[in-house]
Amino acid sequence: MDAVRIYGGNCLSGQTKVQGSKNASLPILAATLLIDGTCEIANCPDISDVYHMLRLLQSLGCVVNRKADVLYIDTKGIAECDMPADSVGVMRSSIMLLGALLARMGEVSMEYPGGCVIGKRPIDQHLQALRRMGVEIAEGPEEFCARAVRLHGAVHELPFVSVGVTENLILAAVLSEGETIIHPAAREPEIQALCEFLISAGGKISGVGTDRLVIEGVKKLHPVRFLVPADRIVAGTYLTACMCAGGRVFLEDAPCSQMESVLVCAEKMGTRLTRTTDGLLVEGRACRGLGKALVTEVYPGFPTDLQSLFMATMAFSGQGGQIEETVFENRFRVVPELVKMGADIRVEGNRASIRGDRPLHNTIVEAQELRGGAALVVAALAAEGTGIVTNRHFIDRGYEDITRSLRELGAEIELA
Ligand code: EPZ
Repeated sequence: MDAVRIYGGNCLSGQTKVQGSKNASLPILAATLLIDGTCEIANCPDISDVYHMLRLLQSLGCVVNRKADVLYIDTKGIAECDMPADSVGVMRSSIMLLGALLARMGEVSMEYPGGCVIGKRPIDQHLQALRRMGVEIAEGPEEFCARAVRLHGAVHELPFVSVGVTENLILAAVLSEGETIIHPAAREPEIQALCEFLISAGGKISGVGTDRLVIEGVKKLHPVRFLVPADRIVAGTYLTACMCAGGRVFLEDAPCSQMESVLVCAEKMGTRLTRTTDGLLVEGRACRGLGKALVTEVYPGFPTDLQSLFMATMAFSGQGGQIEETVFENRFRVVPELVKMGADIRVEGNRASIRGDRPLHNTIVEAQELRGGAALVVAALAAEGTGIVTNRHFIDRGYEDITRSLRELGAEIELA
């Protein structure tokens, strides 16, 4: 079955290695298209979103090999610029290929990438910004065709911070003529990793880590070997598993310096943390409230991708809490499933109020999307009885093997 079974109510104890970052890997894989030759990408997570990205690269003529946790991407044979709809539509990150393919091939046609239940996920800002760089775009009802007659630098004063738009513009600018300025640029660690990858390949990018990126186009990039950093959202997921179920766990490679906004919340809620050079020691349940609403923001604020995980944690904390989701318009899809488990959660617009004094019981619940699905698994660890979370394929998009990792942390969990 496409599900996981959890025997809840037990404390956790153990350690697990945090996988490579999904949201760093995807733009870096797209960036290999800018490099004629073979790049080696190490610590790339073995997840379905990466699988779909690799299929897209192969559909364009790239040769892909995996040896242990290293991917070898040879782009010498790129011929196509028309991607299979079944992979484009299924994954939003395919939009990231747009900038890279325009820079490499000069032309791309693709279906509008998949949205998902968390929001409309439009690409209007992507297309507007690329037009400023000399890209001609013909938009049809189902797909669009983009041609970069002469891709050139531009100054982008964006209306709001977008991770994907920042990534696409970096990929379009790094080989284009002249200078490109992106402001306000997204500052997520995944953007910094993409910039570090491109700089190591010969790209000229300054302002990395700030909200103003300046890219000086270069003629050519050279193949590199690159190590993908650990996934801060996966680390945050396993942090909340301990905050809900209790116990003592060590998260090897957890990128603590990229998680400050999350770790501060965990400590305020009563969980004891010890940051080490090689990971994060987590001890004890969350037993307090935050004292104010948890507001999701762009980096370095609290990440929207951990919002559902902290909603589940608040339900077990005894004190409850409030959450304000400011990034996506529909990211409370996990609420009805948590309510099936006995949670008392009220949603008004982009705010949710969670009571923390209700005992949750396990039952059959349905994942609706990636991070909400992970939140249901985390909640089931702490709830009484045996639970089933269906639609595991949503969770597999971002977690290499959530059952293996949680078993390493002492959970009683299995594929169902
Ligand atoms: C990236 O999505 C991540 N995905 C998301 O992670 C993450 O939640 C999000 O950034 C915010 O941090 C990947 O990196 C693959 P945005 P992205 O553009 O780039 C609106 C996960 O769970 N917008 O920063 O799509 C958009 O609708 C996923 O791993 C437009 O209106 O996010 C949203 O409301 C989920 N027009 C807001 O901007 C556009 O042209 C921020 O989205 C583009 C975006």
